[in-house]
Amino acid sequence: MPTAEPRWVFGYGSLIWRVDFPVLATRPARLHGWARRFWQGSHDHRGTPDAPGRVVTLVPDGTAVCVGVAHQVEAATFAHLDHREKNGYRQLGVEVETGRPAARIHATTYVAAASNPAYLGPAPLDAIAAHIYRAAGPSGGNAEYLLELDAALHRLGATDAHVVCLAQRVRELRRARGCAASRR
Ligand code: SIN
Repeated sequence: MPTAEPRWVFGYGSLIWRVDFPVLATRPARLHGWARRFWQGSHDHRGTPDAPGRVVTLVPDGTAVCVGVAHQVEAATFAHLDHREKNGYRQLGVEVETGRPAARIHATTYVAAASNPAYLGPAPLDAIAAHIYRAAGPSGGNAEYLLELDAALHRLGATDAHVVCLAQRVRELRRARGCAASRR
């Protein structure tokens, strides 16, 4: 029986740092024309149906470059990934750049479009940070998701202002809570 060829998956959120599946290879990768935004609701990982968290999706943006990683995986691994990303995400085929000089590889990524029922959309940065600060779900705190992503992008040498600014605000909220507790 012929076995399917390995495939690449482009991860730009938790797929960068929470790798709970076997990988054959991993490379830093860049996706042109899309921006990472905390605009997707999470009912199943970083929130609950009554109090969804906020996780990242990709939104089309002609000038943006989204830095993430490309994981090469066995084709069968997509069953696990489809299940993990089931709350509003759909597979999308994309071309990503890896290495310098850049080589292009075809990858599948998971995008939660504005039409999905869990989509939350844009909001002021302070409101998104406050939302992330208080939300939690079966996979853990929403703040942990944000701070792990911030750290992973830092390790990749990438600067994503949307993530950096949110992480800074959430750290400030944590510090403020620490100060309030120390005054009790
Ligand atoms: C991804 O990581 O590529 C998709 C979004 C997520 O699961 O955080």
